[in-house]
Formats: sequence, structure tokens, C-alpha cells
Amino acid sequence: MGSRKVVTLNEFIIQSQKGFPFATGELSGLLLDICLAAKIVNREVNKAGLVDILGLTGDANVHGEDVKKLDVFAHEVFIDALSKSGACGGIASEESEGFISVNDAGKYVVCIDPLDGSSNIDVNVSIGTIFSILRRKTENGPCEMKDFLQKGCEQVAAGYVIYGSSTMLVYTTGVRVNGFTLDPSIGEFCLSHRDIKMPKQGKIYSINECYRSKFPSWVNDFVDYCKEDDPSTGRPFSSRYIGSMVADFHRNLIKGGVFMYPDMTTHPNGKLRVLYECNPMSFIIEIAGGQSLNHEGKRILDIQPKKLHQRTPVFMGSLELMDTMKTFTSQMVDAK
Ligand code: AHG
Ligand code: MN
Ligand code: MN
Repeated sequence: MGSRKVVTLNEFIIQSQKGFPFATGELSGLLLDICLAAKIVNREVNKAGLVDILGLTGDANVHGEDVKKLDVFAHEVFIDALSKSGACGGIASEESEGFISVNDAGKYVVCIDPLDGSSNIDVNVSIGTIFSILRRKTENGPCEMKDFLQKGCEQVAAGYVIYGSSTMLVYTTGVRVNGFTLDPSIGEFCLSHRDIKMPKQGKIYSINECYRSKFPSWVNDFVDYCKEDDPSTGRPFSSRYIGSMVADFHRNLIKGGVFMYPDMTTHPNGKLRVLYECNPMSFIIEIAGGQSLNHEGKRILDIQPKKLHQRTPVFMGSLELMDTMKTFTSQMVDAK
């Protein structure tokens, strides 16, 4: 066997920065700080079944949902790492109602879901972290709301960490999507998935079908299409829904498919949050060759957010499968 050079995430980030002669290294430093925090969260996630950290804190987060201890832990680890990073001016986290200003001179702000899929923590199912990095609008002084309320297309970097059968970090700075797998024996994320491209056609659909009676009828029609027997188009497709967006998204990104969290009669804006769930994933999926739209066919990345914790219906997936999906609703096809 020939020898193979392992490229660590740290090496990769430093190497990539060399391609930008005017780069100050601040974004690289910020990514490395996120990477370190992810390793700390990973350590705790791995022993979640062993230690007393598991279970409810008894509090509810700003959305009225139960907060598990690991959510709070992950939030604190990321806040701590980002506060020490000179590049980060402020943070918007799912676990905090308002944004947190950390460094008046920081050039960037970070929007983060510190632990995604928290209902899966206590049953040993994959969970994740999702992050979005924006250049701040205000020049210095404490961050302001407008630093965070930017369209997704303005992101300078976005990524996620999946704490699964392996722990992986996948991120993009807008050119390519690369994936790094944590080698626990050396404690380093190593380049394992270079230049990820999403298959154009996919045979997996991911949706929580228990809400069928609340979905728009076109969504149910499309799901029925996915289930139909038609060997010429590879149907029926497979249904896969973990309930951790990071895990569902990651599988579909690699294998091809569509992830949907639609509007519902009870929740007209769906469930998932624009700034730290939908925007980063939409940035990644578009760079990888897929599409991400809201219920009106508008690019998620073109939504102008008005609130920190704003939600949006989201449909994201393989290019051609999304095109097929759009034929089920005139609302999407006609959208500009
Ligand atoms: P979080 O744990 O950060 O609140 O996010 C959970 C999200 C997302 O990960 C998942 O896709 C979705 O909630 C599942 O919701 P349903 O149980 O309604 O399907
Ligand atoms: Mn989440
Ligand atoms: Mn969360």
C-alpha cells in the first residue's frame, strides 16, 4: 500500500487561506475556534450515556421547548470559544433569546444551533451543531441587531458537525464543500470528503409524516408520488427521517434526496429557524449543487430575516428531485 498524507482540518484551513493573499487570518482563526469547541462538545456527547449530564434541566428554551443539559453545555462551550476568538463580535444562539455581544473589534458574527436534534440525545441517535458566519455590518462597538439580520446569501462561511457513528465537520466558505472526519486517536478532524457534490437525482425523502393532516395538499401529493411503484423512475423512494436535521441533511447530501419541513395549518412558518438552521444548510446544499426553497419557491438564502429566531418552511434537496417536487405546486414554479 502506498503511503497517504493525512490532511488535518487545521492544515487545510491554513492552506486555503494562502489562496487569499489579503486574508488576515481572522476567519481561519474563527473556524479553528469552532473546531476546538466541537471537539469538546463531541467528548461530552460521547459519554452522554455515562454521566449525570444527561436529562432535562427543567428549563424551557426561548421557544418553550424542553432543554436538555447537553444543549446548555454545548451553548456554553461555543460561547466561551467564540468569546475568546478575537474575530467574533457577537453570537446569536438558539439557546439565547437575544444576541450576545462578545468583542467590539470582532469582524464577524456567528449564528449557531449548538445542539441540533436534542430530543435524540438520550437514545444514542446522531445529533449535531450548525453554524453560520456573517461579516458584521457595524464597524466596531457592541454588535447590533442588523449585524445578525442578514440574508443567507451574505454568509461568508457555514457548516455543521455531526456527532454520529463517526464525528464529522462539514463546511464551506462559498467555493467548495469539504468534510472532515474526527480521528479520535489523534484528536484531529482529517479531510475525508473533498469537494462534496450532491447527486443530482435522489431516492430518499425525509419528512415527518405524522403531520400529514396539517400539510398543504401538494406536499402530501408529492409524498404519495415518492411512494408510488414505478421502476422506470426508481420508485418507490426510501423514506428516512431521523428527527435530527443535521443527520437527515448529511445523509441526503451524500446519497441524494430531499428534506422537507413544510408549513402546517398549526405552524404556518414550519419549525426550523432561518438564521442558524436553514441558512447554513442552504448555503452548503447550493454549493454542493442542490436547491433550497421555502414554501413559495423563494430561495431560502434570499429571505430577509426580521427576527433572530424567525422560522421558515424549508424544502432542500437534489437538483432534479427538487425540480420534480416543484411540479406539484404552482406556487413554487411561478416564484421569482
Ligand atoms: P433542535 O433540537 O435544535 O430544537 O432541532 C430539532 C429540529 C431538527 O433537528 C429536526 O429536523 C426537527 O426539529 C424535528 O422536528 P419534528 O419532531 O417536529 O419532526
Ligand atoms: Mn435545531
Ligand atoms: Mn438546538
